[in-house]
This record gives sequence, C-alpha cells and structure tokens, in this order.
Amino acid sequence: MEIKRLSGLDLPRIMELQNRVLKALADHSLYYALVPAEVEAMLGDQGLSLGIYAEDQHLIAYAAMRFPGSEPDNLGMDGCLTNDELARVVHIEAGLVHPDFRGQSLQKLVYEEAIRQTRMLGRFRHLYSTVACHNYPALVNSMKLGLAVTALREKYNGYLRYVLYQDWERPLSIDRGQVLKVACGDRERQEALLAEGWLGFAWEKNENQMRLHYGHRLKA
Ligand SMILES: CC(C)(COP(=O)(O)OP(=O)(O)OC[C@H]1O[C@@H](n2cnc3c(N)ncnc32)[C@H](O)[C@@H]1OP(=O)(O)O)[C@@H](O)C(=O)NCCC(=O)NCCS
Repeated sequence: MEIKRLSGLDLPRIMELQNRVLKALADHSLYYALVPAEVEAMLGDQGLSLGIYAEDQHLIAYAAMRFPGSEPDNLGMDGCLTNDELARVVHIEAGLVHPDFRGQSLQKLVYEEAIRQTRMLGRFRHLYSTVACHNYPALVNSMKLGLAVTALREKYNGYLRYVLYQDWERPLSIDRGQVLKVACGDRERQEALLAEGWLGFAWEKNENQMRLHYGHRLKA
C-alpha cells in the first residue's frame, strides 16, 4: 500500500473519512473530531499529513502530525518543558482508519512513516500524543511505537486522556524489574503512580478489561 504525503487538495477526502469513522463510532468520547481549519493547518506548514488511498480513490487511512509551537495546548507544557524545548514538540494529532479496512495495522503503518518523515526534518525532539483510556487499538499502537504513558489528564472539554511521550534524543529508561499492572479504568491509582514517576509502557487485555503495565522511570 502506498503512503502519500497529503496536501490541501486532500482536505475533502479527509473530512469524508472522518465522517465515515464518526458514523461507525459506538462511543463518541473515544475520538474528538477535527474541524476543517485544524486539518488544513496540518496540511500546510503547521504539520505533516499522510494517507493511504484505495484503488477507488477513497482515503482509507490518515495520520496527522502537528507542530504546536507556542499554542497553549502544546503538550510539552504538561511535561514542564522550557520555551526553547516547546518549539521542538510535535504531536501525533489524529489517526483514522476506514471501518472496512480495520485490523490490518494501518494506523501503525502510517504513524511509523509520519514519525520517520518528521524526524528527518531535524527540528523536533519531543513526541506527544493523547489517547482515550479505553481506546484499545489507538493505545496499543502508540505503545508499539515506543511511546510511554506519562500522565493522565482531562483534555478536550473534560474527556480523560492518557498523555503519551517519546524523547528522540534521550529515550526514557524504565525499570522493568518491578512491574505494577493497573486497570485502565482505575484513574486514582494511575494518577498516584504517574505522580510518583511510574510510566505505562505495556499492556494486557482479556474479555473484561485492559490493564497497563507500569514501571518506574530510571534517572538518566
Ligand atoms: C484507532 C484506529 C485508527 C486503529 O485502526 P487499525 O489500524 O485498523 O487497528 P489495528 O489493525 O492496529 O488493530 C489494533 C488492535 O485493535 C483491534 N481493533 C482494531 N479496530 C478495532 C475496533 N474498531 N474495535 C475493537 N478492536 C479493534 C485489532 O483487532 C487489534 O487487536 P490485537 O492487537 O489484539 O490484535 C481505528 O480503530 C479508528 O479509526 N478508530 C477511530 C478513531 C480513533 O480513535 N483514532 C485514534 C485517536 S486519534
């Protein structure tokens, strides 16, 4: 499958894909929809957008990276970065896969390529993403790419989100010797662990629940 760099011309196709995904979404708290102006900005110089088209010219996968710069929602502010470092933050802003094409790891495929192309720009160091606690595929894909859960915050008008992070210069080091497994629904316990410096780095899932594996962050 060919992954394409998207431009302003692809805006209608992206909105069409988002509408299709929203229509199929049983729980609308999982995904906070983008408005056209946000998508447009990431098709220009405020981001990098990639997609996969099916043979019938429908967009079936979309990934958008955003360069938040000095915007107040820069997730580096949660990580207490300095102003210089905030300029080096990139967000994974959105990932969408058409419901008819799920289960083929397309999100991971386009994210991987978007990360590779963003790293090639050489201007960024801090990769952030937010994922709803019960958005299993998005959470798993983020951790498969090496991002770790570093915080739990209310975002987007009160929706609870994991904040995931990866440092491209000094990768986070995690003590995997002592692992605590916590249900994703247990907000209080996770907030306490994250405040003590634990990081979520792996997962397990059965038919009843998903649990995150937490390990202590090792000093660099
Ligand atoms: C998140 C999303 C992009 C992942 O799609 P995808 O790339 O096809 O998913 P994957 O092929 O990587 O599947 C990952 C896992 O989730 C499962 N899965 C995929 N889609 C699923 C769905 N809709 N419901 C339940 N499980 C699903 C897969 O079976 C797989 O499980 P496994 O790891 O146990 O084998 C897609 O579900 C989507 O568009 N969701 C709505 C928008 C969204 O939430 N975006 C992310 C936040 S920006």
